[in-house]
Amino acid sequence: MSEFTFLTGSEDWWRQAVVYQIYPRSFADANGDGIGDLKGIISRVPYLKALGIDAVWLSPHYPSALADGGYDVDDYRNVDPRLGTLAEFDEMIDALHAEGIRVIIDIVPNHSGSGHVWFQEALRSPKGSPARDRYIFRDGKGENGEIRPSELVSHFGPTAWTRITEPDGTPGQWYMHLFAPEQPDFNWDNPEVREDFLKTLRFWSDRGVDGYRVDVAHALVKNLANGHLPERASYDLSLVKHDGSDDLFDRDEVHDIYRSWRKVFNEYNPPRMAVAEAWVHPPVNATRYVRSDELHQVFNFDLLDAAFNAQQLYGLMSAAIDLMKSVGALPTWALSNHDSPRVASRIGEVQSRALALFVLALPGSCYVYAGQELGLPDGVIPDEARQDPIYFRTKGTQKGRDGARVPLPWSGEAAPFGFTSGSPWLPLQESWKELTVEKQDTDPKSSLNLYRSALNLRAEHLVDNGEVQWIESPEHGRKNNSLLAFKRGNVSIYMNLSDTPIEVEVSGKLLVVSAGIVDGRDGKVTIPPVSTIWLHH
Ligand code: GLC
Ligand code: CA
Repeated sequence: MSEFTFLTGSEDWWRQAVVYQIYPRSFADANGDGIGDLKGIISRVPYLKALGIDAVWLSPHYPSALADGGYDVDDYRNVDPRLGTLAEFDEMIDALHAEGIRVIIDIVPNHSGSGHVWFQEALRSPKGSPARDRYIFRDGKGENGEIRPSELVSHFGPTAWTRITEPDGTPGQWYMHLFAPEQPDFNWDNPEVREDFLKTLRFWSDRGVDGYRVDVAHALVKNLANGHLPERASYDLSLVKHDGSDDLFDRDEVHDIYRSWRKVFNEYNPPRMAVAEAWVHPPVNATRYVRSDELHQVFNFDLLDAAFNAQQLYGLMSAAIDLMKSVGALPTWALSNHDSPRVASRIGEVQSRALALFVLALPGSCYVYAGQELGLPDGVIPDEARQDPIYFRTKGTQKGRDGARVPLPWSGEAAPFGFTSGSPWLPLQESWKELTVEKQDTDPKSSLNLYRSALNLRAEHLVDNGEVQWIESPEHGRKNNSLLAFKRGNVSIYMNLSDTPIEVEVSGKLLVVSAGIVDGRDGKVTIPPVSTIWLHH
């Protein structure tokens, strides 16, 4: 019997959901302008249905100058005209809901885009005005205010302050931006800011949106009282205080915001959910975001840069499971997203399949980044095609995240592989010819069909199937980095990380294998090199 009791298909649908992250501009382009759009998503609903996902998470779809790929939002209650219209958004929700797929959208509360009406109003309004108070404007230091107010650095480098020109044409105040200058930080001490986000949450929830992914959820509230200003000369996380009193990150007060959001979520039936992007330390701090009157999930990012190493994987997986269990929650897992190198490039294609099949069997919910199911590697981007502000703000010393954002290859023999009839906003690689959905669709050994089988079997055998019991094997194990295995209910999962076959004493029916041929007889099973198997007992 299962240790957990879950309501599936209702209020708790998210707890064990497989959520597919769509970067809207990179998914499918319906009108040939080279940019993926909502009509493109609608046209691919049958694909998403066949994949077997429970929900889609849409990266920002709002009007934006695209200074940071849409994470610079100019209007929180509208759709980027390049992506579609509000009517098409409603159509997309209906099309996904009709197939039982829920929709999570990105909400970006730490900062707006610099084209937002409030920021434009702040620029036109005098120093000290209510319009300026919605953002973080300060006078500069020095005789004429020409020195930036503090040494705070931006996450995208270098400084977090930009000086404006006052309406009368004179050099003026400075505003704070933890990211690009086109992303001014909101002042969350301002009640209007708080009210406006509640309005936005209701706006989308009324339209049927099922949940929210909260961007930079840990950074909203800053210590700005009594003229204090955060100073931090480098983006070194060891300088952050981890007791809720840091000037910028994970402050105790940020939780009041999520308590007020939860009340809005609970106005709906089923209640809307939210998953936090919260970079906190120590890991136990993450649990504060999922208290029963706050948000529902918090991303675990450990797998995004973990090595293909049994000890390390065991350590971080078991820690995440135990930590979440201590507060009655389940973990979340992600191998790739739009901010990090794709897993197939990072650890290798075969390795990434084995790891994905292993992770899909763990308790909790799995986030799958569009293209991951195809085994897509990072794209090779010529410098002149780069878009990521990280590339520009570090003067090219960091290449940025564009490689993980290249559009998906759908069909045909040449780039852009059916993504668009025009010219794609980032180039697809000619070498992706064998990776298209069309090619993989009919190949039983393809990565796509592995994901389809796994999602199907997961729903049948693993959802609601109890806790992880790690399997220790005397010869092959974590210590020599060869085998990692666990049992959940009547399913055993073995991952062979080594490059030789491993024989284990176990019997059962093979449900799925990530690569290679499994040999099983006389109570023994041989697991192929760099491969994961699920056995049903
Ligand atoms: C989050 C997003 C990232 C964005 C940043 C600023 O980390 O995932 O893409 O650049 O926030 O909004
Ligand atoms: Ca388009």
